[in-house]
Amino acid sequence: MNVLGIETSCDECSVAIVRDGKEILSNEVATQIDIHRPYQGVVPEIASRLHTEWISPVVSSSIQKAGLSLKEIDAVAVTNRPGLLGSLLVGVNFAKAFAATLQIPLIGIDHIRAHLYASQVEHPLEYPYLGLLVSGGHTVICRVNGFDDLDVLGTTIDDAIGEAFDKVAKHHGFGYPGGVVIDRLAQKGNDKAFLFPGPSLHKGSHTYDISYSGLKTAVINQLDSFWDGTSEKSPENIAASFQRVAVGILMKRVHKALEDTGLTRLSAGGGVAANSLLRSQLKQLQGVEVSIPSMHLCTDNGAMIAALAFQYLNRGETSGLDLGASARVKAFKHSYP
Ligand code: KG4
Ligand code: ZN
Repeated sequence: MNVLGIETSCDECSVAIVRDGKEILSNEVATQIDIHRPYQGVVPEIASRLHTEWISPVVSSSIQKAGLSLKEIDAVAVTNRPGLLGSLLVGVNFAKAFAATLQIPLIGIDHIRAHLYASQVEHPLEYPYLGLLVSGGHTVICRVNGFDDLDVLGTTIDDAIGEAFDKVAKHHGFGYPGGVVIDRLAQKGNDKAFLFPGPSLHKGSHTYDISYSGLKTAVINQLDSFWDGTSEKSPENIAASFQRVAVGILMKRVHKALEDTGLTRLSAGGGVAANSLLRSQLKQLQGVEVSIPSMHLCTDNGAMIAALAFQYLNRGETSGLDLGASARVKAFKHSYP
């Protein structure tokens, strides 16, 4: 079954074709990064206008790269939540018209669940596993029992991890997009030049819950308080010191969740799963089978949408042409070991 997957929840206009949920025949990503760079963040109005202009050529290019004809596309999947509403609607409406014209099934896919599923395309793990979703909008630690069955252990109580990277970079004028720039700068920095507030586990709210606003504020407003007094206050040193703590906060929860749940498999997804320090620390986990997607499957992409859609379609599930879009996160089941 060839599924065409459309992803327009934020600033990437991506269309992929995935065969039987496994074989990526094409995965086109038209990025708007350069257009949003002057604003140091995604401007929703610009994002949705560009999706409107780009969606049709990106779909054509994806079909052409896959070497298929329209007749060989068996279903169309589209991200319909969560994300920027105007951007989501472009993808959803295109997908509806595509499905109606070709008379093929349509299915709406949840962006968060697709990020958590992305690793299954390249290196499938047996269920259950510990899932880590780390992106610009979300930070979630969960037990993944099946492709549509997650028990959330903890989430961010304020900023998402990617948002903290982006805001620190924006404030210090490091460049855009923040996560990528900080990762690059950090390679050449001293990660102990600033001793920012560390990865302690918060008492009070649930143990796995995560907070990034304290760290972000420290890096933005209180550099002097955490400076070692000798190292240079260079972008490289700030980036490396911030990144060490940002990843440390997450890893502390990961260690605890693995210990408490007894899970021996872990998968990470979302843009921040492209971070080199996080990837290397996850890969070093002892006695844990780790599956992290290749870089192009970490950040927003249509392939993860098409791959997850295959699982639903296989179970006979489809959406109607009345499929809606929502900016909001679909409620999670919470469970605490
Ligand atoms: O998954 P994604 O493409 O979009 C959302 O669903 O949010 O994630 C985007 C986020 C941004 O915050 C970006 O700064 C971050 O992923 N990011 C990174 C890296 N590459 C992208 N953060 C840290 N290190 C990276 N190498
Ligand atoms: Zn995403």
